[in-house]
Amino acid sequence: MLASLAVRAAPVAGAEASGGTVTEDAASLYLQNCASCHGVNGEGGVAGPSLKGVGAASVDFYLRTGRMPLGAPGQRPQRQDPIFDDEQIRALVDYVVGFGGDGPEIPQVRAGGDVRRGWELYVANCAACHAATGAGNAVGGGNVAVGLGQATDVEIAEATLIGPGAMPRFALSQEDRDALIAYVNYLRTAESPGGAPIGGFGPVAEGFVSVVIGLTALVLVALFVGRRSHEGEPGSPLPADALTEAAVDEAAATRAGEGRA
Ligand code: HEC
Ligand code: HEC
Repeated sequence: MLASLAVRAAPVAGAEASGGTVTEDAASLYLQNCASCHGVNGEGGVAGPSLKGVGAASVDFYLRTGRMPLGAPGQRPQRQDPIFDDEQIRALVDYVVGFGGDGPEIPQVRAGGDVRRGWELYVANCAACHAATGAGNAVGGGNVAVGLGQATDVEIAEATLIGPGAMPRFALSQEDRDALIAYVNYLRTAESPGGAPIGGFGPVAEGFVSVVIGLTALVLVALFVGRRSHEGEPGSPLPADALTEAAVDEAAATRAGEGRA
């Protein structure tokens, strides 16, 4: 079905070559690839929702992630290679926005967001569906919160604005959006503690190991504090200096070192 759509899109290139304006190209792209489901004027129909007021962010997201055009009515939109190039996507975005309504614009993103803040936001808002690692998850009703390994920065921002499919929308400040993007990028690139990425998302193991190290350190501290409070008590099973502060530090440092090695 995708192949046949691509074939049907072919004459458009001809229109371009014969000096067709951008508007004409956009119109024929839309009529050939979208109108059958979304209506000639984006009014919607049995096979697709109205596109009035969905906003540039939505059209851009659905086209760049290859979710649209849908291959056939009744299919579920899925992330795949886009069938349009940049220029065609821009033209289609403008064309659909021209149907009216005022949905969200394509968001601006800035590099260098606050990763720690992004982590907080991610854990609170995204991890339940996309998993702590970003690897994705089934979220019920046959919906899948896809892995976050592929989305570009702009696509991440767009997704939070438009809430594709079963995903809710999030009202985030630009700073918070940039922070989330920085954290999602961190999830992708952070190395796993063993040096070998695990399933493409190292931080699963990294998070796990840091919990283990953290707990070990806590247990050591608890042991130490426990001993100290028994110091001098008659019948205390161990000499007071059995576990010195230095020994605790050294043990913790060794463990931490092992974890990072
Ligand atoms: C075979 C039918 C079909 C075709 C062809 C199709 N769409 Fe869709 N489109 C749908 C359906 C169904 C949905 C709703 C998907 C969902 O929400 O799970 C949708 C959703 C969308 C959305 C999201 C709307 C929103 O509420 O945010 C956009 C944007 C969109 N389509 C744009 C396009 C464009 C642009 C084209 C042409 C390049 C296109 N679609 C072609 C069926 C189609
Ligand atoms: C209720 C579950 C849910 C929550 C919470 C949620 N998402 Fe999603 N998300 C989804 C689903 C489902 C999809 C796939 C939608 C589709 O394909 O139609 C998705 C898709 C995405 C995509 C598109 C990925 C791609 O490669 O195309 C991104 C990016 C994304 N989500 C980011 C986020 C971020 C960031 C948060 C937190 C602010 C978040 N999501 C919270 C369910 C959720």
